[in-house]
Amino acid sequence: MNIKANLYLGDSAKELQKIPENSVDLIVTSPPYADQRKNTYGGVSHEKYVEWFLPISAELLRVLKPTGTFILNIKEKVVNGERSTYVMELILEMRKQGWLWTEEFIWHKKNSYPGKWPNRFRDAWERLLQFNKSKHFAMYQDEVMVPMGEWSKTRLKNLSNTDKVRDVSKVGSGFGKKISNWLHRDKAYPTNVLHLATECNNKNHSAAFPEELPEWFIKLFTKKYDTVLDPFMGSGTTILVAHRMQRHSIGIDVVPEYYQMVKNELQNKELPLLEETKIIYEEVKTQRRYAIR
Ligand SMILES: C[S@@+](CC[C@H](N)C(=O)[O-])C[C@H]1O[C@@H](n2cnc3c(N)ncnc32)[C@H](O)[C@@H]1O
Repeated sequence: MNIKANLYLGDSAKELQKIPENSVDLIVTSPPYADQRKNTYGGVSHEKYVEWFLPISAELLRVLKPTGTFILNIKEKVVNGERSTYVMELILEMRKQGWLWTEEFIWHKKNSYPGKWPNRFRDAWERLLQFNKSKHFAMYQDEVMVPMGEWSKTRLKNLSNTDKVRDVSKVGSGFGKKISNWLHRDKAYPTNVLHLATECNNKNHSAAFPEELPEWFIKLFTKKYDTVLDPFMGSGTTILVAHRMQRHSIGIDVVPEYYQMVKNELQNKELPLLEETKIIYEEVKTQRRYAIR
């Protein structure tokens, strides 16, 4: 099967209307942050952010399959010494729109620049909000398992009595755990914190996704030949990674240069060989280092 990558040039609020309803398995995106990049692609003020985003999230809700997932990378900025609240307001409004706010992952930016501010420390994390249309969404947890590591040799060696029975959460979260279940296993499920370095330098952009970010969510929430959408594709990290992982993709951007750049990159890519995904992953790790936002 041919892996398709459809690119659209224009405002997402309009371009999304061209995409059929219930046709996308995963949306991974990083919209422009409030009050930033006014010179490159027109910034949105923090006061108007929710109003600006809601028509777009309404379209995203329409195009996402009932089993699909939407990952929104966003972080409120500091205005007059206070964190803005527009992300929280956006979550509340999106819930009214029909979205379920199912999870929040943290992107820990391992290489954030050192700095000194009088009243805060350097910002080293961003939100990765997960929204769904239904509680029963596709999730392939085994695809993102991590090695147990040294922890299994120390902590799991000396199990207490609580560790040997299922320990129901004392705070009523519904999460129980039985630690002895993990004895003698090589792999465990990861946490909801992703420790990834940002990718900067080169090619006219600042702060693009590290490739591992869309890659991790694509592994977790899709299978081969599913469709991945990035309505603010920028340098096209999500699109190019999805393509390499043999997922169909749809990318939208309002800036003609970004659109053309992603188009050119896609044209230069050879289609991945069908049975060698794993090897191709490692070999094709490109040296793309864009920076947007
Ligand atoms: C933070 S960047 C995305 C970076 C991307 N994740 C990457 O890895 O390169 C946001 C992008 O949204 C685009 N954009 C801004 N407003 C838009 C709109 N209304 N419709 C479509 N794209 C828009 C900008 O041109 C910019 O490329």
